[in-house]
Amino acid sequence: MTRVFSGVKPTGHLTLGNYLGAMRQWAAEDQHRSDALFCVVDLHALTVDHDPARVRRLSRQAASLLLAAGLDPELCTVFVQSHVDEHARLSYVLECVATDGEMRRMIQYKEKAARERERGGSVRLSLLTYPVLMAADILAYGTDEVPVGHDQTQHVELARDLAVRFNQRYGHTFVVPKATNPAVAARVMNLQEPASKMGKSDDVGPGIVYVLDEPDVVRKKVMRAVTDSGREVVYDRAARPGLANLLEILAACTGGEPAELAEAYDAYGALKKDVAEAVVEVLRPLRKRHQELCADPGYVEGVLRDGAEKARAMARPTVDAAYRAIGLLPPVADTVVNAAR
Ligand code: TYM
Repeated sequence: MTRVFSGVKPTGHLTLGNYLGAMRQWAAEDQHRSDALFCVVDLHALTVDHDPARVRRLSRQAASLLLAAGLDPELCTVFVQSHVDEHARLSYVLECVATDGEMRRMIQYKEKAARERERGGSVRLSLLTYPVLMAADILAYGTDEVPVGHDQTQHVELARDLAVRFNQRYGHTFVVPKATNPAVAARVMNLQEPASKMGKSDDVGPGIVYVLDEPDVVRKKVMRAVTDSGREVVYDRAARPGLANLLEILAACTGGEPAELAEAYDAYGALKKDVAEAVVEVLRPLRKRHQELCADPGYVEGVLRDGAEKARAMARPTVDAAYRAIGLLPPVADTVVNAAR
């Protein structure tokens, strides 16, 4: 059976981009057709300036949103990254296979490091090595497919490169994974800055729809979305990025094709209204289920405990094999020591 792994980072409240670009497909398709693991990658949230209490809060919230989005612990494994030591164990070994130049070429590193320096802050070393930890997340589970939005494709490519390089140097150990993207909405853009991705840790709040936004807040944000000059409603990503983003969001929510949907409109106002209502409807069941789960924190904790236990058992043999292959001495088992005495 195909093994699928993906994750979400608790650095901010989850957005419509996270939902349409990743989580929705995990719930609707991936968990049914594969042996799937979905992870709240809390170690990754420590790579930028952070508040410990907020990371804890957002990690709990992300876990319950994954369940609210429809992940079913009977069908897939849901867990928190830091509960499974194998991620950090494998990450170090992969750092010994990755190169400094390769890390510095990562687009997200370049962008985030530049932003951090502009603010006068310092760049954490873990921001540079982040993609190696992400590769460890993926490779520890013998993952075949990694369903992600477009922004993560380069990181999954790195995981592929590291798997191939490790296997060539030290013998076949890792499955070589590949990224998969949703057909539409693989890159939902900020409603106020259609040239930038709708990212949860960005500063431009009015352009970001959070999955837990009240319906009226969603409506307001969509109605105020920046559109391009020009009157006709046409789907053209390069020339009319604001409009294209709205059409893609509508397509993702209603199941149509952006270019075909455009034909039904002759004014931006009517399109925005329909987009707003479509988004409100897509998020409605998720918000409702999330409220129910908030009233039952014991359930979410139980899911995470069981998930971590399952994940540990899945990752351990591969990570042990990588340790042996790269030349680390296996610990002497107690039984052997006792027998030798
Ligand atoms: P993160 O937390 O930024 O995003 C989680 C998922 O949501 C997708 N996504 C989007 N898709 C479309 N449009 C957007 N505007 C948008 N914003 C986010 C992301 O592509 C992602 O699929 N590094 C990862 C987390 C991670 C991971 C992993 C993922 C760590 N280890 C191993 C897969 C496998 C990240 O920061 O995702």
